[in-house]
Amino acid sequence: MRKKIVAGNWKMNLNKAEAEILYNNLESKSYPDDVEVIIAPPSIYLNSFSNASKVRISSQDVSANNNGPFTGEFSAEMLHSINLRFAIVGHSERRTFHKETDLLIFQKVEMLLKHGITPIFCCGESLSDRESKNHFSVVKSQLSQIISNLSPKDFSEIIIAYEPVWAIGTGLTANPQDAQDMHSFIRGLISEEFGSEISELISILYGGSCKPSNAKELFSMNDIDGGLIGGASLDSESFESIINSF
Ligand code: PGA
Repeated sequence: MRKKIVAGNWKMNLNKAEAEILYNNLESKSYPDDVEVIIAPPSIYLNSFSNASKVRISSQDVSANNNGPFTGEFSAEMLHSINLRFAIVGHSERRTFHKETDLLIFQKVEMLLKHGITPIFCCGESLSDRESKNHFSVVKSQLSQIISNLSPKDFSEIIIAYEPVWAIGTGLTANPQDAQDMHSFIRGLISEEFGSEISELISILYGGSCKPSNAKELFSMNDIDGGLIGGASLDSESFESIINSF
């Protein structure tokens, strides 16, 4: 059975007081036993939330380097030392604004796995990739480093988030069948390399304007195991409603 997961990516939002209110609100609720709830607050707040019990805490990023002269960065070892067990990598905002390459993202994945942290690996095509019908090949190439270079054991630790760039923060959502087609394509690539036992274990989340009004339909698709939620995770009611959408 694949894990159902709803992860909230807070991005660079909320001051400390606002973040605490949202966190305390989420920690005071109960969630379905079969759904893992993860939140990824800005890194400046990670340490103060690391004792969470109802939700799991994720970083939004990590350095590809180990400790050393890398001003402003933080390492997988540091995340591990504050008991964090998840980190998002390869988000399209990092790929776009910080020019992160597939190779750099792969190095981050390796660093996380070395420290026992689960990478939430993001991939997804731009609008022009989709319009030119290159979306499958773009996503395949984003995944190629981790698929060709990780051992089956390491790969089975990963969570994948398919996030079409044109749907992120825009209010446009992939229609459930298009999202399902991409998730099934991704699972197929994993199966070709690692076999169906592993491909059937990997949770593949959908991200991109996922909200209470469309989560149920998206999560009902065969290969969609949950969501990576941006905007709608900043409001506890809408985030809870998405968590209860399976
Ligand atoms: P969104 O963001 O839900 O606001 O579209 C999703 C994401 O970037 O992870």
